[in-house]
Amino acid sequence: MSVLRADTVAIASAAAALGAGACVAFPTETVYGLGAVAFDARAVARIFEIKARPTFDPLIVHVLDMEMLARVARDVPPLAARLAQRFWPGALTLVLAKRPEIPGIVTSGLESVAARMPAHPVARALLAAVGQPIAAPSANSFGRLSPTSAEHVRAQLGELVEIILDGGATPLGIESTIVAFDPVPTLLRHGAIAREAIEAEIGPLLDATAPVDGSTPQAPGQLLQHYAPQTPIRVIESLPPRDRRADAAYLGFHEGAEGYAAQRVLSPAGNDAEAAAHFFEYLHELDALGLERIDAARVPNRGLGAAIADRLARASVR
Ligand code: TXA
Ligand code: MG
Repeated sequence: MSVLRADTVAIASAAAALGAGACVAFPTETVYGLGAVAFDARAVARIFEIKARPTFDPLIVHVLDMEMLARVARDVPPLAARLAQRFWPGALTLVLAKRPEIPGIVTSGLESVAARMPAHPVARALLAAVGQPIAAPSANSFGRLSPTSAEHVRAQLGELVEIILDGGATPLGIESTIVAFDPVPTLLRHGAIAREAIEAEIGPLLDATAPVDGSTPQAPGQLLQHYAPQTPIRVIESLPPRDRRADAAYLGFHEGAEGYAAQRVLSPAGNDAEAAAHFFEYLHELDALGLERIDAARVPNRGLGAAIADRLARASVR
């Protein structure tokens, strides 16, 4: 395993490794991805193995441009095309009818494929160098905290990955928003583009983001427990008594919690985007302290706050 600063030489080696069937971790504007060439079923199978990810949970396929998208998706309905036009390259994933060349392991046997055109320069340079779509889920162990730095990837997946391209901290810090269209526009996952921004473009979305209990979710991505730190985390409405704070860490949107062993403030200025960018980074930091628990203040459920609140809710399920 090597962690390489993502310069031209490193990107060329990573592309060569992908072409030869390896898995490579790379930065995107949302979180780090663990990638394999999307048409290489054997390499994609290795992603599931490295992440210990159940094969019922399909991957996102990354494309460089609309031409590459046409090799992945059979059809782009008009509303999807509008969103692509408005938000790509960017943190939006569109679920589309898949082309038969995309192996079933990528889509968990579904007839649809989730596709995204990333904006991060390293992800784009890698796609251009490989010349093939790259299937990549987040580069963490299944169910654990998402990686927003190369160090997060190294700590979780370490020796299992051949190359980790280090492109610094990911600017947005939470995963892409996922929208499906069949039969009507439906929000599948809250993410780095606010629901309101998408609705401003194409009108109301059905909401299919509610977590589903049990081991066989009806739709992928609705897992009740996800994004979990090792330290138990709970969402609090108000601060616990002072003597209950010393063994714990506090994560909040604003300042103002005293007496905790550690605390992180997502955005002192109350800015959603700043809060989202720091969310996983701060959880990684607080988790590393090995305290008894993390108290997370409830986040307002609108704009990007909805994406943070969703992740907090799933992280706090035990
Ligand atoms: O920002 C992101 O989306 C990051 C970066 C690396 O691009 N990727 C990411 O992938 O978050 P991952 O594997 O952690 O999440 C992929 C999710 C699945 O859990 C599932 O919910 C949804 O995408 N998905 C994939 N294919 C789907 C399909 N055909 N139908 C419905 N949902 C799908
Ligand atoms: Mg993930």
